[in-house]
Amino acid sequence: MKIVMLGAPGAGKGTQAKMIADQYSIPHISTGDIFRANIKEGTELGKEAKSYMDKGQLVPDELTVKILLDRVAKEDCKNGYVLDGFPRTIPQAEVLEDALTKLNDKIDYAINVEVPDENIVRRMSGRRACLSCGATYHIVHIPPKAEGVCDRCGKDLVLRDDDKEETVQKRLNVYHEQTQPLIDFYEKKGVLKEVDGTVDMKDVFAAITRILG
Ligand code: AP5
Ligand code: MG
Ligand code: ZN
Repeated sequence: MKIVMLGAPGAGKGTQAKMIADQYSIPHISTGDIFRANIKEGTELGKEAKSYMDKGQLVPDELTVKILLDRVAKEDCKNGYVLDGFPRTIPQAEVLEDALTKLNDKIDYAINVEVPDENIVRRMSGRRACLSCGATYHIVHIPPKAEGVCDRCGKDLVLRDDDKEETVQKRLNVYHEQTQPLIDFYEKKGVLKEVDGTVDMKDVFAAITRILG
């Protein structure tokens, strides 16, 4: 099963993608997490990506596409995967489609998690992220068991550099310009599914499992 998660920054793509990955035993692949891991390790890729991410802009397609195609070619992706944060532009979606077509394959579901912009800014300021394992929390909605510590791996939780309010607004603008057109793209392919992302995360997940079966 190959799944693409669509939705604005902060819509809950990562939260839901992790639950899908656990339930269906497929890898969760987040280009944002890959970039953040590289930033943390101080790699060249990390340095380049950070210069865009901190401004709320997209990392250039050339860089992003290569990373994603390398990742989905790995052995653990044989039975499918859930992509979170990729594709984010029409050219990215086309590259992914071409690569899959060559393998006689395709995306099975594009799940759009719908959350209005007003809710997003509120959510982001409460988010805390683990840069080691990619787990995400919310200080009010989804608190970790011990404050500031990841439940899964015990490392410190941080406020992401790009979660400052003015950067969140820029990311929303970029989303509407460059990423929202993917909703139409996948609708035309007949694989688009929409879920309400404003309800409790468990209810969002229940709606998704009804779609995936
Ligand atoms: P990325 O890491 O993908 O960030 P994003 O798309 O901006 O999305 P977020 O991770 O911020 O939100 P999310 O939808 O995963 O929400 P979450 O589950 O955390 O990308 C970061 C940057 O990297 C980009 O800006 C770009 O520069 C670059 N990049 C990445 N991929 C790229 C690509 N393909 N091309 C080019 N550049 C790329 O939830 C948000 C918060 O809400 C959390 O605190 C969570 O706990 C809480 N929450 C979740 N669900 C609920 C709920 N139902 N109710 C209440 N709270 C909830
Ligand atoms: Mg995310
Ligand atoms: Zn962790």
